[in-house]
Formats: sequence, structure tokens, C-alpha cells
Amino acid sequence: MDKIKRILVTGNMGYIGPVLTSYLRENHPGIEIHGLDLGFFGQCLTGAPVIPESRVDVQYISDVRKQSADYLKDIDAVIHLAAISNDPMGNAFEEVTTAINYEASVEMAKQAKACGVKAFVFASSCSVYGYAEGDARNEDSELNPLTAYAKSKINTEIAIKDLADENFVITSLRFPTACGMSDRLRLDLVLNDFVASAVATKKITILSDGTPWRPLIDVKDMSRAMDWGVHRTPDAGGNFLAINVGRTEWNYQVKDLAEQVKNIMPEVEIEINTDAQPDKRSYRVDFSLYEKLAPNHQPQVDLSQSISELKSGLEKIQFSDNNFRESEHMRLKVLSRLRETGLLSENLEWTNR
Ligand SMILES: NC(=O)c1ccc[n+]([C@@H]2O[C@H](COP(=O)([O-])OP(=O)(O)OC[C@H]3O[C@@H](n4cnc5c(N)ncnc54)[C@H](O)[C@@H]3O)[C@@H](O)[C@H]2O)c1
Repeated sequence: MDKIKRILVTGNMGYIGPVLTSYLRENHPGIEIHGLDLGFFGQCLTGAPVIPESRVDVQYISDVRKQSADYLKDIDAVIHLAAISNDPMGNAFEEVTTAINYEASVEMAKQAKACGVKAFVFASSCSVYGYAEGDARNEDSELNPLTAYAKSKINTEIAIKDLADENFVITSLRFPTACGMSDRLRLDLVLNDFVASAVATKKITILSDGTPWRPLIDVKDMSRAMDWGVHRTPDAGGNFLAINVGRTEWNYQVKDLAEQVKNIMPEVEIEINTDAQPDKRSYRVDFSLYEKLAPNHQPQVDLSQSISELKSGLEKIQFSDNNFRESEHMRLKVLSRLRETGLLSENLEWTNR
């Protein structure tokens, strides 16, 4: 692969984008970074000393549904994060989820190829396997996307696969649940919710019996994987590769996540709902292909580091909101409020333009 000099990151103004930008800056100071985002969550900062976008070279406030080849001019690699990024939002805005996550993603990949981009990295999700007990899922396991969000991810993978060739290498990274600190922290993720609850109320309430399995990955390790994807050559996995990203030993049961938070914050009480119906969202993932193909980009941030960084990040902003599940730390709440106030249309387009 020729040297990557300029990267376009779509969806760079969300939870993962600011961490990815810092990671790329630190590890590749010579690479120019362009960002493209509609800015749904632009205002939701958590203790950031400056807006994270001050770290990119060019920032477009724009919609991936309104494609323009201008964004792709002289770009060597695209990291495509822009999406309606979880099941609750996907369920609330199903058609928009298809339009942004699937239709616009496929169009973005087509245009990127036409403009001579060399590498396309797509942020996919392990939710394409569905949730059910059983063996850990590997890349050959049966797919069972249950939600609009999961369907949008797998449909994109299928539609862009044939665009790949030795000059346009596509890497679809199937991430498990993210965790960790960011300049735009989200608390609609299981570990982040537990740490926030522990900091604000000294209590963690597990709404299931605590036995469901959840593989996790820290946002810094997601960034490491995207860096690998940008620089991947076809000899490591082929022109198109869809791959689970994580560590096999980092499949956790929900109650273990709470216990690990308590290890770091011993004053915290854990309440398990022993009467709960079994949570069907239980699944484990096999990450051995990623271990084989990306030995130098293996996840490094273990659970205790993620928890400690979340704790200190939340303490730094004197976080004490015991009603945070209603706050702007929940992405669905932010979108719903922007809709209610009329700032976003039904199709999630800004109305003030
Ligand atoms: N967080 C996770 O647990 C997780 C796990 C697996 C995969 N992913 C994927 O990683 C990517 C980034 O996740 P995140 O947690 O940072 O999500 P996020 O919701 O915090 O950020 C997504 C960003 O995309 C932008 N966006 C949405 N629609 C757009 C449009 N039409 N045009 C331009 N920008 C648009 C939003 O404004 C937002 O800044 C997503 O594709 C998500 O599906 C996330």
C-alpha cells in the first residue's frame, strides 16, 4: 500500500471520533485528518478543554446522505463511522437508519473507489450475529441481525464487498460493545453506565440476573484497530475482510463488570435483580482471526484501565447526576430532544439551514 497521507473520518464528532483523532495524531503526526459530521452531538462535551475538532485539519459539517466528491479529493483512506449508532436509536428512527447506515454508506464506498481512495474502513458491529447463548461467534458463524441497526451493518458489508480490489482495500471491523472515556462520553453503554452510577450514587443496579455475556472493547483499542484497517494490505485477509475486533478473554458476564467496578471503588454496593427474566441479549465472540492477522494491533486497554479512566474523567467534571439516564449522555435522548424542539426534521436533517 502506498503511503497514507490524508484520511477522511466520517462521524468524527461522536463518542469514538475524538479518541480516534487523538490516536491518529499521536501515532501518525504526518497524516492530515479531515472530518465530516452532521454534528448531532456536537454540544455534548465531557470536560474537554477545547473542542476535539480543533485537532483535525479540515472539518465539514455535512450530511453523508448528501454526497459530494469534493470531500474525497486527494483522500487516501476513509474511516466511515457516521451512523445512527445503536439499537434504541435505530428502533426509534428505522427508515433514517437504513438511509444513513446502509444507503449512504454504500454510496460513500462507491464514490471513494471512484475518487481513487485506497483503503475503506467500515465500523461494523458484532450485533450482526444476533444475541443468543451458544458457542462464541466467529466470522463464519451464522448471521442473525435482529434490529434495524444490525441489519444496516450487515447489508452494507454485503453491498460493498464486491467493490474491493487490490487498489481499494475494504476492512469491515465488527466491534463488540464499546467502553471507555472520551471527550464526548456516552453513558448508554453497559460499563460506562455502571461506572457513572458508581460515581454518582455509590450503587450499581443490575437489571438482569447478571449472567448475560458481553464482549467489550475500549475506544482506544477500537482506534488501534481502525489504524490497522487503514494500513492493511491484501496479504493480511484479502481485498475485502470482515473481522471481529477484540480479545477472546474479554468476553465478560455483566455481573463481572459490576464486580470489577467494585474492585476499584470498594464503597460501591451491587444490587442484582434475582427475579429478573433471563436477558436474551447474551452472546460471546471469538476474536482469534484478529489475533492472527493483527498481532501488532491487539487490544491493550484492560477492563480495570477503562474503569479507572472513566472514574477519573467523571470525577474531573464532578459528575453527580443520579438521573443521567435522562440526560444528554444518552444519544437517543439527545436526538429525541432535537426532534421535539424542531431543530431536526423527521428525517434527522437540520431545519435551521
Ligand atoms: N459505540 C459502540 O459500542 C459501537 C460498537 C460497534 C460499532 N460502532 C460503530 O462505530 C461508529 C461510531 O460510533 P459512536 O459510538 O462514535 O457513535 P456516535 O453516535 O457517538 O457518533 C456517530 C456520529 O455520526 C454522525 N452522523 C450521524 N448521521 C450522520 C449523517 N447523516 N451525516 C454525517 N454525520 C452523521 C453523528 O452526528 C455522530 O457524531 C458507528 O458507525 C457505530 O455503529 C459503535
